[in-house]
Amino acid sequence: MSRNLENRKWSNSIGFILACVGSAVGLGNIWKFPYITYENGGGAFVFVYLIAIAFVGLPIIIAEMMIGRMGSENVYSTFKDLSKNKFIWKLVGVMCLFSAFTLLSYYSVVAGWTLEYFYKSISGAFSSITIENSNSVFGEFVKDGKWQVFYHSIFMLITAFIVYKGTKGIETAVKVLMPLLGLFVLIIASVSISKYGIGHSLDFLFTFDLSKLTGHAVLEAVGHAFFTLSVGFGSMLIYGSYLSKETSLMKAGVWIVGLDTLIAVMACLMMYPIIFGTQMELSKSSSMLFTTLSVQFNSLPGGSVIGAMFYALVAFAALSSTISLLEPVVSFVEEIFNISRSRATIFSALVIWIAGNFSALSNGSVQFFTDLKVLDRLDFLVSNWTLPLGGLGIALFSGWVLDRSEKVKQFLDFEQKLFGSWDFLVKYISPVLILVVIGNLIFGSN
Ligand code: PHE
Repeated sequence: MSRNLENRKWSNSIGFILACVGSAVGLGNIWKFPYITYENGGGAFVFVYLIAIAFVGLPIIIAEMMIGRMGSENVYSTFKDLSKNKFIWKLVGVMCLFSAFTLLSYYSVVAGWTLEYFYKSISGAFSSITIENSNSVFGEFVKDGKWQVFYHSIFMLITAFIVYKGTKGIETAVKVLMPLLGLFVLIIASVSISKYGIGHSLDFLFTFDLSKLTGHAVLEAVGHAFFTLSVGFGSMLIYGSYLSKETSLMKAGVWIVGLDTLIAVMACLMMYPIIFGTQMELSKSSSMLFTTLSVQFNSLPGGSVIGAMFYALVAFAALSSTISLLEPVVSFVEEIFNISRSRATIFSALVIWIAGNFSALSNGSVQFFTDLKVLDRLDFLVSNWTLPLGGLGIALFSGWVLDRSEKVKQFLDFEQKLFGSWDFLVKYISPVLILVVIGNLIFGSN
């Protein structure tokens, strides 16, 4: 498969790392992590999550970037060529692409909601919203098909525009989005901490109480480690395929994992002080980010500005993730059909946009799609099945299929002493843990 490498390579390691951090930091950090940590009782869950990130997430993210750099091709051809055309490994490639395609189709819908909430916050429309009517405001909005399609279209258009510009476009976008995101997180966390204090939140997050730990929490922590680090979708693989030999995968992995975890913890420190301070129950559903929070921002000084800033931040985080979901699909289409990047981008984005409309219309606007619960079902399929299976495939492929001497070469001189531990983790520990998660899904009661 021919590839014009000249305009594909990252300009430096920083651009690459920022793009990967951008991919990793998304709705998973800002919406899901605070919410599942809250549900699972805090400290003990955070502890298990950190272990899962270190022993499953980090080794597999390194593995995925490594496979990408060794193959230097699109996701499918990489698995095909590195495995010498074995069916099962080609299937892993196909599954990663399927996951990226499917996740992007509905992620873009949810990401679009942040645009509406940004607009409503900045225009002051939320200044009188109450906990009682926040659910109906949200419900009415997601039921309105034309706005659902509108915002989904805007999000896909921006994503496609950036990806169309290639790695340069992605680098430019993340170099603007990531620092802004960091700044907004700091401002919002400071405002909410200075109003309500931080003590209770820190206790909740970091007091390790073993009695609160359940088997379910352990499984959820492992599953979330994959999602939040974007492994199993081919995003890290394709970003790794544009990487030069001199960049340390180990260092990049530690940076990505470290920053992703930091943002997840900071997201808790933005929300928990308000949640504990106002003693409001979190609405236990995926709409929490839009219902409970839109009300809570009103309790802060400059509430509508802080609210707008918050939804902008979520939009930035989501955008740098959607870019990394479109890229593996575009490079596949481009290389397999041997067409230009612009055509590949337009074609891929269009097909994903069409698919996404089924999710956009499944929240009450079109009965058929609503009955099918398209968005929820696709999310269940990807998060619980294709994602862990893709992660398992990547761990086994890097542990058992790739040639040991070739793998050793991917570690720089100063990292050689860590090679053995990494290899052990991807060969044995990660696959076993993932199999436990999948086994629980098949045989477990929850
Ligand atoms: N890591 C992203 C999040 O936490 C989700 C994602 C997965 C993005 C795979 C890109 C690729 O929201």
